[in-house]
Amino acid sequence: MVKALQQSKSQSRTTKTTNNLVSPKLFLYLLSISALLFILFHIHSLHHHVPPPPSSIVAAKLRRSVTFLPLKDLRYSNKALVGHTWFMSSLYDIQEEGEVQYQQFPSPVVDGDERMLCLKGRDTHDGSWNYYGLAWPEGLPENARVKKGVSFVSYNHYDYQNIWHGLSALMPFVAWHQIQGKCEVPERWILYHWGELRLRMGKWVSTLMEATFGAPLQFEAFEDISEGQPVCFEKAVVMRHNEGGMSRQRRMETYDFMRCKARLFCNLTSPEPLSAAVGMTMLMRTGPRSFRNETTVVEIFGKECAKVAGCRLTVAYSNNLTFCEQVSLMGKTDILISPHGAQLTNMILMNRNSSVMEFFPKGWLELAGIGQYVYHWLASWSGMRHQGAWRDPNSTLPCPYSPGDRRCMSIYKAGTIGYNRTHFSEWAKSVLNEVKMRKMEEATKVTTNQIHECSCI
Ligand SMILES: *[C@@H]1O[C@H](CO)[C@@H](O)[C@H](O)[C@H]1NC(C)=O
Ligand SMILES: *[C@@H]1O[C@H](CO)[C@@H](O)[C@H](O)[C@H]1NC(C)=O
Ligand SMILES: *[C@@H]1O[C@H](CO)[C@@H](O)[C@H](O)[C@H]1NC(C)=O
Ligand SMILES: *[C@@H]1O[C@H](CO)[C@@H](O)[C@H](O)[C@H]1NC(C)=O
Ligand SMILES: *[C@@H]1O[C@H](CO)[C@@H](O)[C@H](O)[C@H]1NC(C)=O
Ligand SMILES: *[C@@H]1O[C@H](CO)[C@@H](O)[C@H](O)[C@H]1NC(C)=O
Repeated sequence: MVKALQQSKSQSRTTKTTNNLVSPKLFLYLLSISALLFILFHIHSLHHHVPPPPSSIVAAKLRRSVTFLPLKDLRYSNKALVGHTWFMSSLYDIQEEGEVQYQQFPSPVVDGDERMLCLKGRDTHDGSWNYYGLAWPEGLPENARVKKGVSFVSYNHYDYQNIWHGLSALMPFVAWHQIQGKCEVPERWILYHWGELRLRMGKWVSTLMEATFGAPLQFEAFEDISEGQPVCFEKAVVMRHNEGGMSRQRRMETYDFMRCKARLFCNLTSPEPLSAAVGMTMLMRTGPRSFRNETTVVEIFGKECAKVAGCRLTVAYSNNLTFCEQVSLMGKTDILISPHGAQLTNMILMNRNSSVMEFFPKGWLELAGIGQYVYHWLASWSGMRHQGAWRDPNSTLPCPYSPGDRRCMSIYKAGTIGYNRTHFSEWAKSVLNEVKMRKMEEATKVTTNQIHECSCI
């Protein structure tokens, strides 16, 4: 019912567009028909017994066979996260054991399927007003524009401004680039959220992608396309399942690649000399989820660090570090100490097997849902060690409702984080011991800590 309504809405839109274009288009159409007839007549008179070339008829049939469907299939609106996606729902992914799930047009796996992906519409509010279809190169839709090179088409269930959700949506393109794409670099990025076009991405993620692919990102806005005009892509790669399907090994390789590219981009080509020194970094926040008594927390960790030979403590605020300053700092960090929050995404820039210690305000365990574990997952996927989380039992912002009431979350969201001296000291001591032992062992190995070439596999 809803779907029918949406379709009739968009149909009336399309019709309106067509009407606007009727007179000049009709004129051109008649002009080309007469030109065609003229040529055909001549060909015909030259070869009296040959019938008209069938290819033009086939092309016309192919052209008419292109069906455009809404990017957002409303039938799957409650199932977006359980296997199916409502984005390009009629198409299947290429799936190989442990590998990234993707779609590519023309198909690299079905011999002879040279159909190109075509898109129509640039609505930023309703994904059912944007369309997709597949077309044979000999029978592209009427009036279609072809865009050259590789186009990355991304589906994101959340948004591209958020570091975590942005990175999750884009890392599969890096995985593709490394293997299936044989180092191919995109000409343009076409970003969708529920089928709605998006034109921006958070700075950290876009800089990481720029570093990875070696050029600033071009976000496609379809500004050079008239309304309702289809655009077909010489080569398109579509991602809609984040890291889903990828083995841990492949995920780690993908993060290794981004880390390596980020270091090259930031000219950090001379690696830190291998040593048993331990870098401990406290990455601070201001406002929500900051430490209530920063001085004391720094003092507790500083004291433990000072007991370990070669331990160096750095306190930094991610919000006033440039991307390259973050890359540089993380390259020297073996233990990252930081409250739950976007700045923790920086962990992927540490050397493999480095440690993460995370902190939460009161109430998160009970109320924040599964999303609170994203940095546990990211640590595992990027080859780091999540050393657990500390959860503040107290809050300076009391919730007036009964404990466990969902409404409390909106209060706890703004909460800050206290400390437990005994616990922090013991925890730091044990993590420091583990890291120190690993570093000492590594320092004895002959392998140099070189920046490898970040090569495609
Ligand atoms: C890295 O070095 C190159 C060449 O010297 C320079 O053009 C570029 O701006 C540097 N990049 C950064 C991030 O400093
Ligand atoms: C932080 O803690 C120390 C010692 O526990 C205390 O002396 C100081 O007043 C506290 N600072 C703030 C801002 O609460
Ligand atoms: C970084 O930010 C913190 C808090 O926002 C501030 O106290 C500090 O002075 C800043 N440091 C620099 C070098 O700007
Ligand atoms: C990380 O630790 C694992 C398990 O101890 C080890 O097998 C692996 O070689 C380490 N990786 C690196 C890059 O140090
Ligand atoms: C939580 O509050 C109680 C009661 O005020 C206090 O005894 C305890 O030390 C606090 N715990 C932490 C970790 O701040
Ligand atoms: C602080 O941590 C220690 C060790 O984990 C624990 O025994 C103690 O109960 C904690 N204190 C408070 C006030 O939460």
